[in-house]
Amino acid sequence: MKNIVVLVSGGGTNLQALIDAEQRGEIPGGKITCVISSKPGAFALERAEKAGIPHRVVERKAYSDRESYSQAILEALNEEKADLVILAGFMIILDERVPKAYQNRMMNVHPALIPSFCGPGFYGLKVHEAALAAGVKLTGATVHFVSEVCDGGPIILQAAVPVKNGDTPETLQKRVMEEAEWKLLPKAAALFCQDRITVENGIARVEE
Ligand code: GAR
Repeated sequence: MKNIVVLVSGGGTNLQALIDAEQRGEIPGGKITCVISSKPGAFALERAEKAGIPHRVVERKAYSDRESYSQAILEALNEEKADLVILAGFMIILDERVPKAYQNRMMNVHPALIPSFCGPGFYGLKVHEAALAAGVKLTGATVHFVSEVCDGGPIILQAAVPVKNGDTPETLQKRVMEEAEWKLLPKAAALFCQDRITVENGIARVEE
């Protein structure tokens, strides 16, 4: 059984999608063993508590710089004996030691079709604001392995979602979550836990 450790910063709807999928038996070979939040009051912690999942806070504010925070996260992941690390609305960019230590074992969900609307500064609602400002007619979500390049690691799964007339960043975010993120992330976790993802020359191949 693979230990899945989920990193969060906020509401945790993607964490909830993972919890629900696990409870339905849709992540065979994997178990969410710990949730780690960068913020003490994150609602995601309540979701973990309700599901009986051990949780801890590694508060970003308690560390003076990215390096010392990344070291603390690395130590926590090692203590938790993580086989798979999932960034589910984790809003901190970690330094390169973390993705290197967990190469092809750490995945992130991003609310756009990478390589569009991604990289430093593109997170949460800002991604959807940028998609609307560009006037794209399709957006979506991507689950990818985390590399030392922000939003630049091997792409595992993507799904497209239409942009509709009159969309606001909030309505678009909701549609992207419901139609893409909440389905893709548990699916990617399940594929990983069944050893159905391989990476060669920076490209992920998925046995669906
Ligand atoms: C999600 O839309 C996720 O894709 C995004 O933040 C939201 C978190 O929601 N992540 C990023 O933008 C990371 N670059 P949640 O806390 O309800 O899962």
